[in-house]
Amino acid sequence: MKVLVTGSTGLLGSALLKQLTSPEYKVKITSRSKPENTGPFEWVYSDLLSGEGIEEAVKGVDVIIHAATSPVKDSKIVEVSGFEGFLRKMQYIKHFIYPSIVGIDGIPLKYYKLKYEAEDLLRNSSIPYTIVRATQFHNFVEKLFLSKPHFKRYIVPGNIKFQSVDVSDFANHLIGLVDKDPQGRTNDFGGPDIMTLREMAELKIKINNETNKVLSFSIPGVLYKSFVDGKNTNDNQKMGKITFVDYLRNKMD
Ligand SMILES: NC(=O)c1ccc[n+]([C@@H]2O[C@H](COP(=O)([O-])OP(=O)(O)OC[C@H]3O[C@@H](n4cnc5c(N)ncnc54)[C@H](OP(=O)(O)O)[C@@H]3O)[C@@H](O)[C@H]2O)c1
Repeated sequence: MKVLVTGSTGLLGSALLKQLTSPEYKVKITSRSKPENTGPFEWVYSDLLSGEGIEEAVKGVDVIIHAATSPVKDSKIVEVSGFEGFLRKMQYIKHFIYPSIVGIDGIPLKYYKLKYEAEDLLRNSSIPYTIVRATQFHNFVEKLFLSKPHFKRYIVPGNIKFQSVDVSDFANHLIGLVDKDPQGRTNDFGGPDIMTLREMAELKIKINNETNKVLSFSIPGVLYKSFVDGKNTNDNQKMGKITFVDYLRNKMD
């Protein structure tokens, strides 16, 4: 089975590479920059923006795990029009696995709207696919909101909720789909706990024995409210095993 992983330098892409060790899989990886360590994998350059290298990337491949994304820069092209061009190159793909995000249809963020459009492109294509929506990754939430305190304080919109999941748990789940039949839109993959950002900040302070405090603020508007309401979570799909505390402790080892 020949598997292509796009976005091989990203959070999810790197986690996939660490786990795609089965000799049953011949793995090709692609991104614009070359990963520091390509291991046993064949790396090819490709760019969803220009379309360069896409044909070479998909050549001879049975299954694709599409972990390439660009949430901010040129997002409309990378997520939608470039993605559409990418799908057009696939004639013989047995299974296209698309990681998406929980709540994209209920949260007014431009990136989420584009992800939903990409899901639609897949739904309306003849490509056999599985769409799995995951909740935010632990490392993504930490980097975005809790990377460093200012004046001994984590200043955060403390009431917003996350059900963060470890990227390695999600990578493992996606790899488990490789040999399965395409499932269409499948069950969400959520983390083990739903917490407010304030609670996550307090856990970080406790686990790391920090003297920092949390300073929480609110933001008016529907976007903030959708995260306060937990539209990015799914209480019925607590699938990940590694908790935010485990993630913080593992970082210390
Ligand atoms: N982060 C989260 O919390 C989270 C949660 C749920 C689902 N997801 C989904 O998981 C997937 C992976 O997310 P991630 O957080 O791992 O993303 P990421 O860390 O930002 O990685 C993005 C990858 O895409 C590649 N890329 C960017 N622009 C590209 C282009 N024009 N052409 C080709 N490749 C390009 C990047 O490599 P180069 O720059 O070298 O090309 C990089 O390898 C996305 O679909 C995302 O929506 C993420």
